[in-house]
Amino acid sequence: MARTPTTILHLLLFTLCILSTQTTSSSASSDINGFLSCLSINIPPSLIQTPSSNSYSSLLLSTVQNLRYTLPGPTRPLVIVAANETTHVQTTVVCGRRHGVHIRTRSGGHDYEGLSYASVEHKHFAMLDLAKLRSIHVDAIRAEAWVGSGATLGELYYAAAAANQTFGFPAGNCPTVGVGGHLSGGGFGALSRKYGLSADNVIDAVVVDAQGRLLNRSTMGKDLFWAIRGGGGESFGVVVSWKVRLVAVPETVTVFGIRRGKNESAVELITKWQAIAPSLPRDLYLRVLIQNQQATFVSLFLGRCSQLVDTMGAHFPELGMTEKDCQEMSWVKSTVFFFFGTADMPAEVLLDRRSQNYYLKVKSDHVEEPMPRGAWESLWSEWLEKPEAALVMLDPYGGRMASISPSATPFPHRNYLYQLQFYSFWFENGTVALDSRLSWIRGVYKFVEPYVSKNPRAVYVNYRDLDLGTNEVEGNVTSYAKARVWGEKYFKGNFKRLAAVKSKVDPEDFFRNEQSIPPLPSSRW
Ligand SMILES: Cc1cc2nc3c(=O)[nH]c(=O)nc-3n(C[C@H](O)[C@H](O)[C@H](O)COP(=O)(O)OP(=O)(O)OC[C@H]3O[C@@H](n4cnc5c(N)ncnc54)[C@H](O)[C@@H]3O)c2cc1C
Ligand SMILES: *[C@@H]1O[C@H](CO)[C@@H](O)[C@H](O)[C@H]1NC(C)=O
Ligand SMILES: *[C@@H]1O[C@H](CO)[C@@H](O)[C@H](O)[C@H]1NC(C)=O
Ligand SMILES: *[C@@H]1O[C@H](CO)[C@@H](O)[C@H](O)[C@H]1NC(C)=O
Ligand SMILES: *[C@@H]1O[C@H](CO)[C@@H](O)[C@H](O)[C@H]1NC(C)=O
Ligand SMILES: *[C@@H]1O[C@H](CO)[C@@H](O)[C@H](O)[C@H]1NC(C)=O
Ligand SMILES: *[C@@H]1O[C@H](CO)[C@@H](O)[C@H](O)[C@H]1NC(C)=O
Repeated sequence: MARTPTTILHLLLFTLCILSTQTTSSSASSDINGFLSCLSINIPPSLIQTPSSNSYSSLLLSTVQNLRYTLPGPTRPLVIVAANETTHVQTTVVCGRRHGVHIRTRSGGHDYEGLSYASVEHKHFAMLDLAKLRSIHVDAIRAEAWVGSGATLGELYYAAAAANQTFGFPAGNCPTVGVGGHLSGGGFGALSRKYGLSADNVIDAVVVDAQGRLLNRSTMGKDLFWAIRGGGGESFGVVVSWKVRLVAVPETVTVFGIRRGKNESAVELITKWQAIAPSLPRDLYLRVLIQNQQATFVSLFLGRCSQLVDTMGAHFPELGMTEKDCQEMSWVKSTVFFFFGTADMPAEVLLDRRSQNYYLKVKSDHVEEPMPRGAWESLWSEWLEKPEAALVMLDPYGGRMASISPSATPFPHRNYLYQLQFYSFWFENGTVALDSRLSWIRGVYKFVEPYVSKNPRAVYVNYRDLDLGTNEVEGNVTSYAKARVWGEKYFKGNFKRLAAVKSKVDPEDFFRNEQSIPPLPSSRW
């Protein structure tokens, strides 16, 4: 059973009293032994693992999704704290600050660049693992839920539907993604054209700030509540739990997956799709996956088959969708279909927290105007027919996405036609595969440059890409001027406001990583 925010607050006062009776030291360098003994005051030893402990490796690897960051190179955590109570989070932050040990928070471990558990810049850090803080409480009367950051999207989908089949939640298409990182960066999925991002449906949150205080919506202030809903993980504090609004879905929805090769007008259909998909009715989400030289048009429709056939006939007759393509099912089963490509499995697969691991590199873009057919022809023949070709995903915006102001949350990319993702994943190890995969994906990224958004070339922060630039520390904090290079690609005009919030809530830049938000220098206010 999860504690309610109120009991957590009582515990907090208790913890801070104990901690504040100790002498504080403001040493700038890290004191790992001091940190460990500080932790041990409030955290059971079995929840604290160092590299010499037996279960350090299995705990570290338990939710590592991208095997690239298990290769030799990146720095691993000095300590892992597997918090199972909110006070453990507070203690870790307070002890970390006192002893100069920065922390990285991990919820689901799906960061594309491994930032929750590895440092490519060789910074020392402790990892705070939230996997045990994953309780979910649905209030079926109000259609709301409190969900721990350590829960997965699949667990949230399952719990929502178990409370009432007409409850859904707009979030990503991969059930093993963690709620903590996902909601922190936005959260886009099959319901986003109807209901927006996950972050658009957050109504409260419990956060541990840089001083170890436990805050909720009414105590954290508007700016921090704005920043945590899309400003990207890590920068502002540790979000322990989120209160979300569940959204209405019909008892029966319809899905289809229609595959077309190059000899079946795939290129022509994709070219048409670009203008059609973002302006379809909000109840209809139609994405494209291109893999093995075939384009699959995958759809979720919030209604029955017969109505879907009519809607597709009216808007996109060229695809030739018919009743035979329809599969009717519950919404929760549609989330199974979207990930596994089949709904022929029980909904309980959503509760399996083990993710399929592989080596991964992703680059992504936003598209403002349809790419010309000739560009698609060349992309296909010059890049997609190569053996290293990745999975390419086209996800339409429009609908609710376009009706939310770009400054309502830190996620500014509301008005594009669609997002374009080059998702390269492989199972073989070694630098040979790595080099050829990286050069393929960087090459294709260069190829599409003339056709995608410019000034900035917009990127969604949950599709983290360290090629865009990494932070540099100047004085004692991350440089704002340097961070703008990547920061404005993720956040456009909202980047400055995020930096201003950072200077208020974490001026000493305790919460930092290769792409965390830097404090705004006072000269720029
Ligand atoms: C297979 C796969 C499929 C995906 N599909 C989608 C999709 O359909 N739609 C979409 O929008 N995105 C998708 N993503 C991207 C995903 O949303 C992000 O990678 C997200 O940040 C992962 O969250 P996490 O908790 O699993 O990751 P983590 O690696 O645990 O965390 C990600 C970042 O957030 C920070 N963080 C984690 N928890 C907290 C917390 N509680 N408080 C503060 N900071 C925190 C971490 O330090 C790290 O910087 C996908 C990723 C993968 C690997
Ligand atoms: C947290 O873990 C400790 C050590 O395993 C255990 O004794 C304790 O009961 C756990 N607390 C919760 C709330 O699960
Ligand atoms: C589920 O929600 C719907 C719509 O809010 C409501 O009419 C229905 O009574 C609920 N069903 C159950 C079993 O609670
Ligand atoms: C938020 O915290 C305040 C102060 O501790 C408390 O009075 C209030 O009830 C909390 N709000 C919620 C929604 O938990
Ligand atoms: C297109 O090519 C695929 C595989 O090469 C083949 O299976 C399919 O029948 C072809 N379709 C048409 C319409 O020629
Ligand atoms: C990499 O591949 C080699 C050869 O197949 C294998 O022996 C080795 O165990 C692999 N290493 C890892 C880390 O998977
Ligand atoms: C950095 O921190 C140290 C110690 O906390 C302080 O003395 C120094 O003035 C700081 N430097 C800057 C540039 O802020």
